Amino acid sequence: MKLPVVASAFSASLLSSVGAARTFTVYNGCPFTIWPAMFTGVNQATASPDFTTGWAADAFTAVSFAVPDNWTSGRIWARRDCDFSTNPGPNSCLDGGCNGGLVCDPSTGTGVPPASLAEFTLSPSGAPDFYDISFVDGYNLPISITNNAGCPAPVCAVDLGPNCPAPLAGPFDSTGFPVGCKSACDANLSGDPTFSPNCCSGQFDTPATCPVSGVELYSYFKDACSDAYAYAYDESSESALWTCPAASQADYTITFCPPA
Ligand SMILES: *[C@@H]1O[C@H](CO)[C@@H](O)[C@H](O)[C@H]1NC(C)=O
Ligand SMILES: *[C@@H]1O[C@H](CO)[C@@H](O)[C@H](O)[C@H]1NC(C)=O
Repeated sequence: MKLPVVASAFSASLLSSVGAARTFTVYNGCPFTIWPAMFTGVNQATASPDFTTGWAADAFTAVSFAVPDNWTSGRIWARRDCDFSTNPGPNSCLDGGCNGGLVCDPSTGTGVPPASLAEFTLSPSGAPDFYDISFVDGYNLPISITNNAGCPAPVCAVDLGPNCPAPLAGPFDSTGFPVGCKSACDANLSGDPTFSPNCCSGQFDTPATCPVSGVELYSYFKDACSDAYAYAYDESSESALWTCPAASQADYTITFCPPA
């Protein structure tokens, strides 16, 4: 457990009244280097972890950092095949790259799809934690979210790249191996991302008007990885959005390439 140094100056009662920090661990279980990244939503005055927004993770290494209880809009993903030596930015990686290069811009540094996401909404007010694995922006690495509180632990241990349907496959590395599988929305299968049942956009922008049945190749993702969001309104699967009681004060581990 690694708490910010400043926490030691607070009394226990003050800590509990303002909310304590959680410990998040990001583990690279892949047998190659990845570049994890973190983004905090900017549309609300939200607290953010006092930790870098992008780093290199060698194979089988982990980092842990404190996350405030009021991290109400956070996401963690990882980038593949990066080279930041020239013109660092969103195109420095084959997928998942961000504005900023190695360290993602706190305001605009969301990942370039496709990227498997771990998403978190913590709450300081007694509401439960909400968290999920999302392939709404496509897939680029197997991923799991585990916790120390006995709460649900969504996992997608399958590499969805090699069998990805041709219209969604890619990008590809220099050997021709698919290092991602795009969402039907990002692949522009329906021809207009602003008005699409794949994107839940335009007239399809509600759960009622954007049913699973309208999402092309939904089952490719959901059949292989039933614990993850396979499209924007996948709550109806009852196997997409997960919760953990606030009282559990859960610590979370995000693993890339979890064991099968
Ligand atoms: C988040 O919580 C900390 C104390 O834990 C507090 O100082 C800070 O103002 C809060 N931030 C927001 C945006 O609520
Ligand atoms: C989506 O596909 C349509 C039809 O091929 C094309 O006209 C449009 O430019 C594409 N949009 C994007 C954002 O790629």
